[in-house]
Amino acid sequence: MLLLMITVLLSVACSNAVVIVSDPSDYVDLSLDTIDNSLLTDWNITATLYQIIAVNGPYYFSEANRKIEHRTFAATDNDTSVVVVTDNSIMNISHSLILKHGYASNIYQSSFYGVNAAVNVANGSFATFNNINITTHNGSANLYAYGSGTYAIVEDSDLYSSGPISHGLYAGGNGTVTGRNIRHYSGGYRSSAFSGDTPAGYVYIYSSVAHTAGIGSAIFYALGEIHAENVVGHAEQAPALFMDGVQTAELQKVDLTAGLLAGLLLFSSSEREAGAYINLTGSKLTVLPETAPGLWFGNIIATAELANVEIETASGILVVANYSQITQDFNYYAGYPDNNDLLPAEVDIYVSESYLDGDLVAYNGSSISWTLSQYSSWTGSVKFGYGDASFGVYLDKTSKWILTHDAFLTNFTNDDTGLSNIISNGHSIYYDTTSTTNTWLKNQTIQLNGGGKVTPST
Ligand SMILES: *[C@@H]1O[C@H](CO)[C@@H](O)[C@H](O)[C@H]1NC(C)=O
Ligand SMILES: *[C@@H]1O[C@H](CO)[C@@H](O)[C@H](O)[C@H]1NC(C)=O
Ligand SMILES: *[C@@H]1O[C@H](CO)[C@@H](O)[C@H](O)[C@H]1NC(C)=O
Ligand SMILES: *[C@@H]1O[C@H](CO)[C@@H](O)[C@H](O)[C@H]1NC(C)=O
Ligand SMILES: *[C@@H]1O[C@H](CO)[C@@H](O)[C@H](O)[C@H]1NC(C)=O
Ligand SMILES: *[C@@H]1O[C@H](CO)[C@@H](O)[C@H](O)[C@H]1NC(C)=O
Ligand SMILES: *[C@@H]1O[C@H](CO)[C@@H](O)[C@H](O)[C@H]1NC(C)=O
Ligand SMILES: *[C@@H]1O[C@H](CO)[C@@H](O)[C@H](O)[C@H]1NC(C)=O
Ligand SMILES: *[C@@H]1O[C@H](CO)[C@@H](O)[C@H](O)[C@H]1NC(C)=O
Ligand SMILES: *[C@@H]1O[C@H](CO)[C@@H](O)[C@H](O)[C@H]1NC(C)=O
Ligand SMILES: *[C@@H]1O[C@H](CO)[C@@H](O)[C@H](O)[C@H]1NC(C)=O
Ligand SMILES: *[C@@H]1O[C@H](CO)[C@@H](O)[C@H](O)[C@H]1NC(C)=O
Repeated sequence: MLLLMITVLLSVACSNAVVIVSDPSDYVDLSLDTIDNSLLTDWNITATLYQIIAVNGPYYFSEANRKIEHRTFAATDNDTSVVVVTDNSIMNISHSLILKHGYASNIYQSSFYGVNAAVNVANGSFATFNNINITTHNGSANLYAYGSGTYAIVEDSDLYSSGPISHGLYAGGNGTVTGRNIRHYSGGYRSSAFSGDTPAGYVYIYSSVAHTAGIGSAIFYALGEIHAENVVGHAEQAPALFMDGVQTAELQKVDLTAGLLAGLLLFSSSEREAGAYINLTGSKLTVLPETAPGLWFGNIIATAELANVEIETASGILVVANYSQITQDFNYYAGYPDNNDLLPAEVDIYVSESYLDGDLVAYNGSSISWTLSQYSSWTGSVKFGYGDASFGVYLDKTSKWILTHDAFLTNFTNDDTGLSNIISNGHSIYYDTTSTTNTWLKNQTIQLNGGGKVTPST
C-alpha cells in the first residue's frame, strides 16, 4: 500500500491531504512469489540484436477487427506470450484476465522484441485493452508494444508481476504504449512499471499508480520518450526514473518516491552522449536513502527543467554530477573499472517557481549550472565531491539564495546586481575572475546580507 502526502496532486482541493492509494500488492499474497522475486537474469550473454526467438502464443490474432470480452487467457510455456496481436491488426479486449507463467531464456529477445511478454502487440497493430488484469510470474512483461506504427492502449486495468525483467507497460522497436488509470505492482529485479527499449519506445501514462519492489525496478525507464501526468509511484529499491542515453522524459503532476541511488537518475551506459532531457512540472519527489541525491547524472550531458517542484531528500543533496555510470546490476555508482569510456557529467538545470533545499555536488571534472527564476528560492550551496569540478549559479531578480556554507563558483550572475536576494548566513561566494561571465563583478569584493561576501577566489 502506498501512503502518500499528495500535496502537489491535490493542492487545489486541499493541502496536505493524506490519501491512501492502492495497488495490486494490497490484494495479492506476495509471500507466494518470494522465490520468484529473488531470481536474477543473466545479462552477461552474447547480445543478439536481431530476432532469433519468434513471438508466439496460444492466442495469436492477425486480423482486421476483433472485439473480445469476458475471457480468461493463459499460457505457461517459456519464451511464449499469451496474447499476440500482429500484422496491422485492430483488436479490443475488455473485462478479461490474462495470466502468464514461464521463463524468458534470452534477455535481449525479451527486451528488444517482447518475447515472453504476456501480451505482445506488434508490427503496425492497434490494440485497446479496457478493464483487464494481467498477471505474470517467473519473468515476463505484462504488455509489450513492438514496431513503428504499433499502438497499444491500456485503460482501467491492473498489472501484477513477479520474477525478473517483468516491466508493466513496455514499448520497443519504436512502438507506442499508453496507459490510463493503471494500478501496477512488480516484485522482481529490473521490472520497471513503465519502460521503453531499443531503439526507442514511446510511453504515455496518465492517472495511474505504480509500485515496484525490486532492485533496478524504477517507475519510469526512459529509452525513447516518457510522458506522464498524475502518476503516483514508489520504487522501493530504485530511483523513480532511469534514463539511459539521450532520451526525453516529461513528467507533470507526479508524486514519486525513490528508495535507491537517487530520485531521478540519468546516465549513459556506453559512451557519453549529449542531449538527455527531463522536464518535471508541478510535482513532488521524495528520496528516502540517507546518501542519495534528488537528481543524479553520470557520463551524460543533460538538461533538466524543474518548474513548481518539491524535492525532499534525507541526504540534503539535491543534485550529483559524477564521473560515473550505472551497470546492469543497478545498485551502485560505477567507475572506471566498469566502463573505460567514462566522462564527467555536464548538467544544466533550470528551476522556476520552486523552493528547494540542499546541496549541488560535482565530482571529478563534472559541472553543474543552476539557474533560478520566477520566484524560486534555494537553501543550500555547492560542494566538490573529489577532484576538480565546476559550478555556475544564475539568479533572476525574483529568486533567492540562502547560503548554508561557502560556495566556489566558476560562473555567477545575478539580475539583482545589488545582491539583496542573497542571504549569506555569514558564508561567502568565491568567484573565478578569469571567467568572462563574471566580468560584471569587476574583481570586487561585495558585502552580502548576513555578514558574508562575494569575492574573487584567487
Ligand atoms: C514461478 O512462478 C510461480 C508462481 O509465482 C512460483 O510458484 C514458482 O516458484 C516460480 N518459479 C520459481 C523458480 O520461482
Ligand atoms: C561475463 O562473461 C564473460 C565470459 O563468460 C566473463 O569473462 C566476464 O567476467 C563476465 N562479466 C561479468 C561482469 O560477470
Ligand atoms: C514482426 O515483423 C518482423 C519482421 O518482419 C518479424 O520478424 C516478426 O516475427 C514479426 N513479429 C510478430 C509478432 O509477428
Ligand atoms: C476499440 O476501442 C476503440 C477505443 O475505445 C474504439 O474506438 C474502437 O471502435 C473499438 N473497436 C472495436 C472493434 O470494438
Ligand atoms: C482485476 O482485479 C481487481 C482487483 O482484484 C478486481 O477488482 C477486478 O474486478 C479485476 N478485473 C477483472 C477483469 O478481473
Ligand atoms: C523453462 O525455463 C526454466 C528456467 O530456465 C527451466 O528450468 C525449465 O526447464 C524450462 N522449461 C522447459 C519446458 O524448457
Ligand atoms: C525504428 O525507427 C528507426 C528510425 O526511424 C528505423 O530505422 C527502424 O527500422 C525502426 N524499427 C522498427 C522495429 O520499426
Ligand atoms: C515542461 O512541461 C510543462 C508541462 O507539460 C510545459 O508546460 C512546459 O512548457 C515545459 N517546459 C519546457 C521548457 O519545455
Ligand atoms: C562517484 O563516482 C565514483 C566512481 O567514479 C563512485 O565510486 C562514487 O560512489 C560516486 N559517488 C556518487 C555520490 O555518485
Ligand atoms: C577521475 O577522472 C579521471 C579522468 O579524468 C579518471 O582517470 C579517474 O579514474 C577518475 N577517478 C574517479 C575516482 O572517478
Ligand atoms: C561558465 O560559463 C562559460 C562561458 O559562458 C560556459 O562555457 C561554461 O559552461 C559555464 N560553466 C558552468 C559550470 O556554468
Ligand atoms: C580581473 O582579474 C583578472 C585575472 O585575475 C584579470 O585578467 C582582469 O584584467 C581583471 N579585471 C579587472 C577589471 O581588473
